[in-house]
Amino acid sequence: MKGCTEILVGAQWGDEGKGRVVDALAGKTDVIVRYQGGANAGHTVIVGSEKHVFHLLPSGMLYTGKLCIIGNGVVVDPGQLLFELGELQAQGKDRARLVVSRDAHVVLPYHKVLDGADEAFRGKERAIGTTKRGIGPCYVDKYNRMGITMGDLANPEILREKLSQNVNMKNMLLTRIYGMTPLPFDSMYQEALEWGAKLAPYLGDASLEVHKALEKGKGVLLEGAQGTLLDVDFGTYPYVTSSNPTAAGGCIGAGVGPTRISRVIGVVKAYCTRVGEGPFPTEDFGEWGEYLRVKGGEFGATTGRPRRCGWLDMVALRYAVRINGLGVLALTKLDVLSGLEEIQVALEYSVDGTTCGEFTPSASFLESAEPLYTSLPGWKEDISGCRSFEELPQEAQNYVRFIEEQAGVPVGLIGVGPGREETILRGF
Ligand code: GDP
Ligand code: IMO
Ligand code: MG
Repeated sequence: MKGCTEILVGAQWGDEGKGRVVDALAGKTDVIVRYQGGANAGHTVIVGSEKHVFHLLPSGMLYTGKLCIIGNGVVVDPGQLLFELGELQAQGKDRARLVVSRDAHVVLPYHKVLDGADEAFRGKERAIGTTKRGIGPCYVDKYNRMGITMGDLANPEILREKLSQNVNMKNMLLTRIYGMTPLPFDSMYQEALEWGAKLAPYLGDASLEVHKALEKGKGVLLEGAQGTLLDVDFGTYPYVTSSNPTAAGGCIGAGVGPTRISRVIGVVKAYCTRVGEGPFPTEDFGEWGEYLRVKGGEFGATTGRPRRCGWLDMVALRYAVRINGLGVLALTKLDVLSGLEEIQVALEYSVDGTTCGEFTPSASFLESAEPLYTSLPGWKEDISGCRSFEELPQEAQNYVRFIEEQAGVPVGLIGVGPGREETILRGF
């Protein structure tokens, strides 16, 4: 929408198909902004026979004439960003203009080493199952006010001072606490300087860019990474990421005031998946979980790990509607359910013999929650060729309507396949 900001968030545990939905909507907007997370994200966009997985670049990069922004709330791994940019440039597909916030924090090699060391320290029982992209340790430094920003990379003196202090401190941690070998300063400093030189043309004031675009009446889409249930404040803590993927994080991470937000779009898979550890009430350990994993190709876009799979959880989805103030849903992977006799949906939980309809993100609550399922009739037809709601089999239409009723929010987009064209728009 012109002159308005919309925020797109994952409504589950990530990998809902945010990248493909941003790609489907990007043609109708002008500015696409990543506002949190880092290269832990893997957003897949499929156009024709080409597949792109964006980890740091906004998923609007394939469109000519768009402005793509990496906001201040993102933690940037400059090597990964340069790699992604280089790949697009080599294919002549870096069609959008890119601006990277000077205030975004930099993921440095010690953050990745510490991510792995922290996980090992937690041990098998307490490990979070992070992506080991250095995300948690980088945000820790940011909030500890010792982080290095993208702007610092372009200033050799400031960079030397900040980096040497950080490397000294991290090396004490690595050697004295974790019994690991120290990391060398000189090569890290040289690499960081190179990153700074290569990325200098892209650095800018992200929030100001967004503001100017809005003042000109342009449309802005904020692209969330991860998902509501991985939010550090509202997710299944401690099995979460270290940022705020929820809608409020969009205002902070892009520098947009809440009064400029017109709508929040929640991306939801027609079933549920999760990568990494942590509670997942509707996880199916049997044949249906395996069926969804194989049919849905549920393997991580960043780490390649098999995703845990299960049925749609309406208790969790209603929570996502509440926490994000969702105004519309984008329902992906409906085609994966084709061929099932019956589709299960959890409407409530049974907790210690009491029926409960409210999601509480505490891990201990969710571990004792038994989903109470209702069953809906499935459909046999291949729906990947459907381009309007009316073309869907009656049972598929009923499934969508059921989700709308239960969530109290309309479904404005339906994914019937991974490709750009395999999309049904309903009033978007
Ligand atoms: P994101 O992190 O939320 O952007 O999601 P990912 O890209 O990590 O994972 C979503 C996966 O599902 C990707 O492999 C997509 O190509 C695929 N996908 C997205 N939407 C659909 C859909 O409607 N149908 C099918 N079959 N696949 C989809
Ligand atoms: P997109 O944007 C799914 C999960 C990890 C782990 C937890 C913490 O593609 O949806 P982190 O590396 O962030 O410290 O790991 O969060 N996780 C994701 N799961 N999709 C993602 O991103 C994720 N990013 C992080 O698996 O459980
Ligand atoms: Mg993903």
